[in-house]
Amino acid sequence: MKRMPFDLLVVFLAMIPLHFASSETLPSTNSTKCHEQERSALLEFKQSFFHVKSSVCGRYGRRLKLESWKLEDRDCCDWKGLDCDEGTGYVTGLDLSESCLFGPINSKASLFRLAHLQSLNLALNDFNYSQIPFAIGDLVELMSLNLSSSSFEDQIPSQVLKLTNLTSLDLSGSNELELRNPGMETLVQFLTKLEHLDLSSLNVSAPVPDAVTNLSSLTSLVLQGCNLQGTFPTTIFKLPRLQLLDLSCNLELSGHLPEFDLGSPIKSLFLSETNFSGSLPASLGNLAFLNEFYIGHSNFTGNVPSSIGNLTQLTMLDFHHNKLSGEIPSSLGKLVQLSYLYLEMNLLSGEVPASLTNLTNLTFLYLSDNQLTGQIPAEITGLTRLTQLDLSFNRLTGPIPENISNLKSLQYLYLRSNKLNGTLRLDVVLKLQNLTLLQLSFNEFSSIIEPGMNASFPNLSFLGLASSNLSELPIFLSYQSSLKELDLSQNKICGPTPLWFLTMSTSQLEFLNLSRNSISSFTTLNWSTLLTLDLSYNNIQGLLPIPPMSIYSYLVSNNNLSGDISPEMCKLSSIILLDLSNNKLAGVIPPCLSNLSNTLAILSFNGNDLYGSFPQLQNDVCQLEMIDVSGNQLQGSLPTGLANCSTLQFLNFKNNQIVDTFPSWMGSLSYLKVLILHSNRFHGAIGEPEARDQFPNLRIVDLSMNNFSGSLPSGYFDMWTAMKVHTADDAHYYEAYMPINPFFLDYVIYDYSMTIINKGILLEYKRILAYLNVIDLSSNNFIGEIPNSVGSLIELRMFNLSNNALTSSIPLSLANLTVLESLDLSSNKLSGMIPLALAQLSFLAFFNVSDNHLSGPIPQVNQFTTFKIDSYGGNLGLCGVPLTKKCGNPVETPPPPPSGALAEKLNWKIVLMGFGSGLVIGAVMGLNMTSRIERRFMRFYRGWQRRRMHQIRFV
Ligand SMILES: *[C@@H]1O[C@H](CO)[C@@H](O)[C@H](O)[C@H]1NC(C)=O
Ligand SMILES: *[C@@H]1O[C@H](CO)[C@@H](O)[C@H](O)[C@H]1NC(C)=O
Ligand SMILES: *[C@@H]1O[C@H](CO)[C@@H](O)[C@H](O)[C@H]1NC(C)=O
Ligand SMILES: *[C@@H]1O[C@H](CO)[C@@H](O)[C@H](O)[C@H]1NC(C)=O
Repeated sequence: MKRMPFDLLVVFLAMIPLHFASSETLPSTNSTKCHEQERSALLEFKQSFFHVKSSVCGRYGRRLKLESWKLEDRDCCDWKGLDCDEGTGYVTGLDLSESCLFGPINSKASLFRLAHLQSLNLALNDFNYSQIPFAIGDLVELMSLNLSSSSFEDQIPSQVLKLTNLTSLDLSGSNELELRNPGMETLVQFLTKLEHLDLSSLNVSAPVPDAVTNLSSLTSLVLQGCNLQGTFPTTIFKLPRLQLLDLSCNLELSGHLPEFDLGSPIKSLFLSETNFSGSLPASLGNLAFLNEFYIGHSNFTGNVPSSIGNLTQLTMLDFHHNKLSGEIPSSLGKLVQLSYLYLEMNLLSGEVPASLTNLTNLTFLYLSDNQLTGQIPAEITGLTRLTQLDLSFNRLTGPIPENISNLKSLQYLYLRSNKLNGTLRLDVVLKLQNLTLLQLSFNEFSSIIEPGMNASFPNLSFLGLASSNLSELPIFLSYQSSLKELDLSQNKICGPTPLWFLTMSTSQLEFLNLSRNSISSFTTLNWSTLLTLDLSYNNIQGLLPIPPMSIYSYLVSNNNLSGDISPEMCKLSSIILLDLSNNKLAGVIPPCLSNLSNTLAILSFNGNDLYGSFPQLQNDVCQLEMIDVSGNQLQGSLPTGLANCSTLQFLNFKNNQIVDTFPSWMGSLSYLKVLILHSNRFHGAIGEPEARDQFPNLRIVDLSMNNFSGSLPSGYFDMWTAMKVHTADDAHYYEAYMPINPFFLDYVIYDYSMTIINKGILLEYKRILAYLNVIDLSSNNFIGEIPNSVGSLIELRMFNLSNNALTSSIPLSLANLTVLESLDLSSNKLSGMIPLALAQLSFLAFFNVSDNHLSGPIPQVNQFTTFKIDSYGGNLGLCGVPLTKKCGNPVETPPPPPSGALAEKLNWKIVLMGFGSGLVIGAVMGLNMTSRIERRFMRFYRGWQRRRMHQIRFV
């Protein structure tokens, strides 16, 4: 779990195998001839694997070792990859790592006749998901066994337990391999001489056993990505020889750091992406040999102890994305060997210590996403080796240091979202010859001086000047030919787009964000490589500009565009996101747009004047995940071709003129979460589901203001299982991650939005929290009773049945909806009493039963003490506060309200839903990485990617 600079990522992908093993050939000797039976065993082994054509070897393929094994060559001890005992002539070492061995291997393999093997390395081959052969246990003299990244699967055989002389065991890199029976506990009880144990990527799915503490010779323990559970035994940190401990990427592994003793030999600690928590002990300072220390993306709290300054051997320090608070200790300035310092995404406050400017070996300094104040220390310009400096998302003030141009090695400078002010000398900053990325958006610079800036900056590929008080497009851009990404959103750029701008970086530009300006026209587009164009929230008039064929994401929402959607749009064969919402586009949606369904994931046309019917899909392939055509005048019926859109999550046809019955055929769309059909001409009974498990993921269903009739769909209520289960990780939004460059390494987040009636008010949700569960069937002609089964939808937040013709009483089962915030049953024909049990609903903030035939006392406890008279009007039989009518019968008097503290607590719980941080859901598009190694890679870098992603967010 080492962090990688952005520019090395691609290189790293190609180099992954090197990470697992080195493939040096063992020295061979010619002093003794090898034994004939071993020689023939080896030749037989070669034969069994050598028939595979070298062309299938792929990028790891090298067969140099096996090629040196020749029938005519008597002394096998000379062969590459072999080591023999000088005295006995027996083969003791075999290294066939990265030798393009392909195909299954079993216990009959001649390899297992090499009874004197002490070292066996078969790493980085492809044994095609066979089991590790039982016969491995016959090689009892083995001291070193390396089977890493060799595509073995299934349980590790118990015969491995016979290898009690093993000092080094590497089974890493095969995530189909399991260690359950025997588990890790048994393994370490038998293999007591282990010094190196690497089980990375293995499916362990269990706690780390205490027995590991008995491995007194252990020097390295690598358990990266093993799905470890439980609490890590702290005593393992104290193993007398332990130098390397890697537990990274075990999100369910909790633990604490112990008090460390002086003299601890630990050199490398990797605890990133775990659930380790607690504080960093002052005794950390005792780890005098510590060289690399990674705890990024874990759950540590408290201060960074100043004793950290004792760790003078440190070269890498990664504390990013924890909850560390307090000031950055100035003692960090003593770590003069440090080349990487990552403290971003914590709660650190105070100033950037001037002492950091002593760290002259620093190449990466990331302090972003904290609460740092004060100025950027001027001396920072002495860090001449810095290649990446990220101070973004803090509260830094003052100017950018004048001598910034001393940072000759600087490639990335991120300063966005601070309160930096003064005049920004862009010409000075851009003097940095190596600068490729400059992100200055969202600061408070008074002006950006560019006197006579007419230079071209051939290295500059990313420029962020969003929210920088620009009143026009900076002319120096016309000299740039290498820009790939340009963000000028949220400025005051007005008027038509000048011609020179439209010819800037025409063969390079991939990302252009001009949203939230006052641009009035935008026409020809010459950028032949453009992937993302965001022009939303401007004042662009005229016809819809047609983006280049290369486009992935095109946003022009909230402008003044008029005219038709040109059929030219149907040629955008790569498009993933198309947002034309809130313009004045009229006419019929061109039927050919349905051709785009095999790439298009997001289609947002809402708030225009489109009429006619929604195009029927022409092909069976449909990648659509989100369709919003609300607020148009679409007619006809719902296009049944959408049944092919198996990934559809969000469908909004609100405020159109669709004439249809309930689309029960959508029930098989198992990802569908949001279905909004408000105010159309839907009619007829919803009826009962015809199959099982219909709409299993539905969470928001709004069928209000139609002509649905018949009884309420109780059979469907039973099937809407997503509203029945509480999932802990629901605190994310409906959003899509849109790739913004061809490598899919950077993303922007596109939020889904909607307006619905909540708590009696029309509310716009610019982002939708995934746990918002809503049923709105109001203003239809539903009759009959409210089915009891509603009570099983225990995660329901809003329930609106108002303006129907429902009869009978309010079911008691509604009291089971313990997170319900809004309940509207008004304007029906409900009778009977308001169940007292509803007073248990401690989140209930809106309650309306007005205009029914209810009778009896109004509950007088908890939430019910907050509802006003409007909630109850038009029910002649109701009595008690807030109505003026007193209740006569003392038997009906409810119990007294709970005493102060409890009542207060209950009321206090009427909190609005908070805003969590966005996590990946649904659409991670373009992640077409198929090989296991690449998937593994993606997992490791998830945290890092998230950081990058949040650099830019659509609207
Ligand atoms: C044995 O190996 C040595 C070097 O290791 C080499 O100089 C010598 O020629 C070899 N002898 C034979 C007989 O191959
Ligand atoms: C294990 O190692 C010890 C000490 O090196 C040795 O005496 C013993 O023979 C080895 N056991 C096996 C089964 O090779
Ligand atoms: C982090 O630790 C806190 C307690 O300190 C715990 O409540 C929370 O669940 C932990 N976070 C994660 C992501 O596990
Ligand atoms: C370790 O750091 C503390 C606090 O900075 C300091 O008082 C102590 O002298 C240091 N110990 C050593 C051995 O340097």
